[in-house]
Amino acid sequence: MDNRPIGVFDSGLGGLTAVRQLRRVLPGEDIIYFGDTGRVPYGSHGRDIIVQYARQDIRFLLRQNVKYILAACGTVSSTYPAAEAATLPVPYTGVVEAAAKAAAAATRNGRVGVIGTAATIRSGSYEALLHTLVPGVQTMARPCPLLVPLVENGYVNDGNPVTTLVIAEYLTPLRDAGVDTLILGCTHYPLLKKMIGDFMGKAVALIDPGKVTANATGAALAARGLANPRKTGGTARFYVSDTAESFAAAEALFLGDYAGGSVERIPIEEY
Ligand code: DGL
Repeated sequence: MDNRPIGVFDSGLGGLTAVRQLRRVLPGEDIIYFGDTGRVPYGSHGRDIIVQYARQDIRFLLRQNVKYILAACGTVSSTYPAAEAATLPVPYTGVVEAAAKAAAAATRNGRVGVIGTAATIRSGSYEALLHTLVPGVQTMARPCPLLVPLVENGYVNDGNPVTTLVIAEYLTPLRDAGVDTLILGCTHYPLLKKMIGDFMGKAVALIDPGKVTANATGAALAARGLANPRKTGGTARFYVSDTAESFAAAEALFLGDYAGGSVERIPIEEY
């Protein structure tokens, strides 16, 4: 039993979609979130920069005395080396493992699609794991860089014509390939779940990595004796590297009913 907070980080505010899920499944846990709003997006950078940023984000969270670290960012989850994560003083998880397992369990025809940032798709992270989980799996992966700015600019209303067009442009090859499972491998995509689902069709299972990772976190904490015994009353504190005002504007979009909590700006370059 451990009442220290869970640390969650992301390149920006998209990772709040994972915080929303954590608050839902673990309402007794305190959460500290860092969103690197001053340096987002990570997904268009090369590996070295992404790893350097992830190290600073992790160091900041460790200074907050967190008991467990969740990288909500698909890009970091696909890039930060597992060997380095294993040396951290607290358990660390990204979102790739739980999402790949959920996709492996969901697929019936062995055809799985993956969408994410350019860095996530370049890493091949989801496909590598899927191949170990589902022998003979056929994967099809596509970067969808325009979806992040569309979400950040609020183009998430159902049937939005611009977003609908961009979804069709990116996802047509995946639909034509007959994937029956699609991993929404980027923090922002769950906000487009309805529109992506409408385009892909009802028979296609959509996997939300933040959601399945949040669902797995309770068991992961319990297995390590790190769960907070409290069943309700958890709090959330938010830190960003750009102005706190930018957080306020996006909070409702990403956190929904779970909006609320203190927000503070920190100088992440100093970590
Ligand atoms: N959070 C990133 C991800 O899930 C998307 C935004 C970015 O490119 O930094 O990959």
